[in-house]
This record gives sequence, C-alpha cells and structure tokens, in this order.
Amino acid sequence: MKKIVLLAAALLLTPLLATAADLANGERINRNCALCHGAFAQGAKGRLSPRLAGLPREYLIKAMEDYRSGVRRNPTMMETTGLANMSNNDIEDIAAYLNMLDLTRDARFDVRPISMGSDLAVGETIFMDECKDCHGRDGRGKPNKEAPPLTGQHGEYIFSTIKLFQAKLRNHDNDPEDETFKAYSDQQILNTVAFISTLDDKLVVPGDMFRPPMLPPMRPRMTNVMQANA
Ligand code: HEC
Ligand code: HEC
Repeated sequence: MKKIVLLAAALLLTPLLATAADLANGERINRNCALCHGAFAQGAKGRLSPRLAGLPREYLIKAMEDYRSGVRRNPTMMETTGLANMSNNDIEDIAAYLNMLDLTRDARFDVRPISMGSDLAVGETIFMDECKDCHGRDGRGKPNKEAPPLTGQHGEYIFSTIKLFQAKLRNHDNDPEDETFKAYSDQQILNTVAFISTLDDKLVVPGDMFRPPMLPPMRPRMTNVMQANA
C-alpha cells in the first residue's frame, strides 16, 4: 500500500519537476534577445529575425546548443547575447519562457503571406507530399521527428533557411546528407513558403489580444541567499 502511495506521489511530482524552470529569469534573459527577436519574441519580416515565441522547448534548447557547439553559426548573436557563457539553467529558463508566449490567436502577429508571384496551390501540393510527414499537416511540427513548427514563422526566414540547407550551411533533418531541397528551384521554394505562411491564419481569434504573462518573482539563487546571510 505504502509503495503505491509513494509511486503515485512520484508520478505527481515528475511533471512538476520537469517544468520547474524559472520563468522570471527567462523573461530577464529575453531582454537581451528582444533587440533582434522582438519584445515578445515575435520576430520580424526579413531574414534576420525568426520568431521564437511558442517554439517547443526541446527545439529551442537544441538550437542554442547547436549555436554553442558551432553546428549552427551566428557570430553576431553569440557576441551580443553571451549565449556561449550561459548556464544550462539559463538555457532551460529562456526556452521555457519563449515556449510560453503564444501569439497565434492575436491577429497583429499573424504572419503575412509572401504571395507575390507565388502559386499557393503548387506550394500546398509540395508541402503535403514532401513536408507534412515530419512538420505535420497543420505545420505545427512533430516532436517524435524532432521537426519544429513552421506555422507562424516568417516567410523570409524560412526561405533563406532553405537556401542555407541547399548550400549545406545548415543541416536539415539533423542529417548532413539530407537532400530534401536539392532539386528545388527558387520558385518552388517560394510557392511552398507562401503556402506555409497561410497556415497560421486559421488560428487567429478575432479580438483576442496577447498579453505578456504575469510571472512570480525570480527565485533567489542559492549563492545569493548564502551571500545575503553571510
Ligand atoms: C544580434 C541579433 C540577435 C540577438 C541579440 C539574438 N538573436 Fe537569436 N537569432 C538571430 C538570427 C539572425 C537568427 C537566425 C540565424 C540562423 O539562420 O541560424 C537567430 C536564431 C535564433 C534561434 C533559432 C531559431 C530557429 O527557428 O531555429 C534561437 C533559438 C535563438 N536565435 C535564440 C536567441 C536567444 C535565446 C537570444 C537571447 C539570449 C537571441 N537569440 C538573441 C539574431 C539574434
Ligand atoms: C524526414 C523529416 C523531415 C521532412 C520530410 C522535412 N523536414 Fe524540415 N526539418 C526536419 C527537422 C528534424 C528539422 C530540425 C532541424 C534542426 O534541429 O536544426 C527541420 C527543420 C526545418 C526548417 C528550419 C526551421 C527553423 O525554425 O529554423 C525548415 C524551414 C524546414 N525544416 C522546412 C521543411 C520543408 C519546406 C519541408 C518539405 C519540402 C521539410 N522541411 C521536410 C525534418 C523534416
């Protein structure tokens, strides 16, 4: 009996421990990211500012580790943010904070399709044939494939990222040998990106306004507490 109670207690505790990130610390760190990624990590049009808001924690952590290890390169970001020297706790806190920002319902953050000169129907066919198995029919990613959501991401960033994949400057699908985009013309990429940019439209709830989350105060660090008591 006691065993069962203990087991039940352990099961209850596990999710709590797994989500025990310090969100206020994440918010603090985000001030260093806002310059490029926006105050709510909404990103911006243009290839230099991907949206981070709402991306899965695991993907965000992996991306930051890839920058730190050099698998992905972004010297400007590394120099301006101190990402290289961030503790694992800081990385987990900023990832949890960014993941929590759900901008999808607010029409102000709806990404605008880059539809100029692109064919949505062709883009949809490519997406459903070649992308949905990993990124999902709704473009919201599949954790079991480690594939991130593309829905809500800025079209210019997706386009230039695919050009990086083609040039082998970034690994797609975590596989240096990946050839997903090898035969794609710029026009085909543009069509696919244009279709992806429409996927967040149906998530918008008219009149819904995003508000930054209210957070508990930052947890004192053990070292701070010890210094305060000394
Ligand atoms: C100087 C501008 C700049 C600053 C400041 C900055 N970033 Fe970035 N970040 C970028 C650019 C540009 C990219 C896209 C680079 C690429 O293509 O890999 C990026 C990409 C990322 C990605 C990958 C996104 C994806 O979809 O794969 C993550 C995660 C990220 N940044 C986290 C952060 C965090 C966390 C901070 C603050 C601690 C931060 N960035 C600060 C410019 C910046
Ligand atoms: C076999 C699975 C798979 C398929 C099929 C696939 N992807 Fe991916 N894709 C991934 C994975 C895994 C990643 C994450 C790579 C990483 O962590 O850097 C990714 C990353 C991306 C990214 C970068 C996202 C970001 O935030 O930086 C883009 C853009 C992308 N894929 C577009 C596509 C498109 C468009 C198609 C269809 C033509 C496609 N993918 C098909 C697995 C796949």
